[in-house]
Amino acid sequence: MPKTPFHCEAIRLQFPSLNGAEKNKQPVYLDSAATTQKPTAVIECLHHYYSSAHANVHRGTHDFSQSSTLRFDAARQRIAQFLNAPEEGIIWTRGATEGINLIAQSYALNTLKKGDEILISEMEHHANLVPWQLVAKQTGAKIIKWPMIPKIAELDMPALDRLINKNTKILAVAHISNVTGTRHPVEKIIEKAHQKGVVVVLDGAQAVLHESVNLKKLNADFYVFSGHKIFGPEGIGVLYVNPKHLPSMPPWQGGGKIIEKVRFSETTFLSSALKFEPGTPNISGAIALACAIEWLESIDRDGAEKHIASLQAQFIQGISDIDGIQIFGLQKGASVVAFGIEGVHHSDLATLLDKQGIALRSGQHCAQPFIEGLGISGCLRVSIALYNTHDDILRCILAIKKACELL
Ligand SMILES: Cc1ncc(COP(=O)(O)O)c(C=O)c1O
Repeated sequence: MPKTPFHCEAIRLQFPSLNGAEKNKQPVYLDSAATTQKPTAVIECLHHYYSSAHANVHRGTHDFSQSSTLRFDAARQRIAQFLNAPEEGIIWTRGATEGINLIAQSYALNTLKKGDEILISEMEHHANLVPWQLVAKQTGAKIIKWPMIPKIAELDMPALDRLINKNTKILAVAHISNVTGTRHPVEKIIEKAHQKGVVVVLDGAQAVLHESVNLKKLNADFYVFSGHKIFGPEGIGVLYVNPKHLPSMPPWQGGGKIIEKVRFSETTFLSSALKFEPGTPNISGAIALACAIEWLESIDRDGAEKHIASLQAQFIQGISDIDGIQIFGLQKGASVVAFGIEGVHHSDLATLLDKQGIALRSGQHCAQPFIEGLGISGCLRVSIALYNTHDDILRCILAIKKACELL
């Protein structure tokens, strides 16, 4: 179906949290990489779910349960379609963090042995490092750092051939960095890893919002993302597992709904991916996430990304004449700019910006090794979404300049 060309003002009107105040006093929200604001469609979806017949899923013959089950199952199909992935590989989680922990505590714990290596890029969010450290301790496997080139904040691709060896079993890398917006060449990475029999985990937390992910084409073994970063609610996320890995993945948490037979002596489990969803799932969250995706796919995504790229260019241009400005690992056309100003502490600047109604993130962005690799103690990050306007960017630039005068 042809889509209406992207129009930022019309989109922004669909986000009540951004439209409460008079126009020139509206909040400037530039922290969408941390979490996105929610459109009316998603808020209403949640309201509608709890205002209509709902009950626990897959366990009642009554109408209320059937109604919830239908909507919950349809949500999983919707996610599979969104990722172009087989539905039997889609698992509901609490978010990207839980998805990676699940892979570590099920797949990795049961396949790794002493001396095996887990290759992890230096540019990862803690969510894609700490779970691997835990499982490395449990199994005797080693974590190997895949370094970046600090000057450009890009992964050292030639080093990959050297780093993958016969002990390498898993490679974990973000699809898009949460600090610099760098899009790693994941197609090439997967190809190289697979040639040597290495399983690839992609952290898609920052990617799903900004590009159409086609997992059939990409051929990642595992892929994770969080609902709240793509206009859905918190507490719901998705893990995709290539179904060929399911037999080597036992459940990582026990409980009801994932079992075939339970005896006091022993329990046998489902073989499908449902073995990872014990207990009552986040039913409303799953339905609202599917609604968020439906909403996102109803708009002109290419137009939205062009708009975001134009805001990024405006921001870079606007701050370029500030004395001592430093931009880290700039990737043109991305939704993120990581920056600092020599002699100004990032948190002081963020505090002064907050006082002027500008919300952005400062600090280490849950990526301490990455930040240290850049040779800094922290930085500021502007992260742009489709509801941001040129006026937001202008107000942010002016506020930074004003804060710099004060500091
Ligand atoms: C790249 C990346 N990975 C993982 C996460 C963790 O996501 P969550 O806290 O929703 O589990 C984030 C959150 O900022 C992220 O940006």
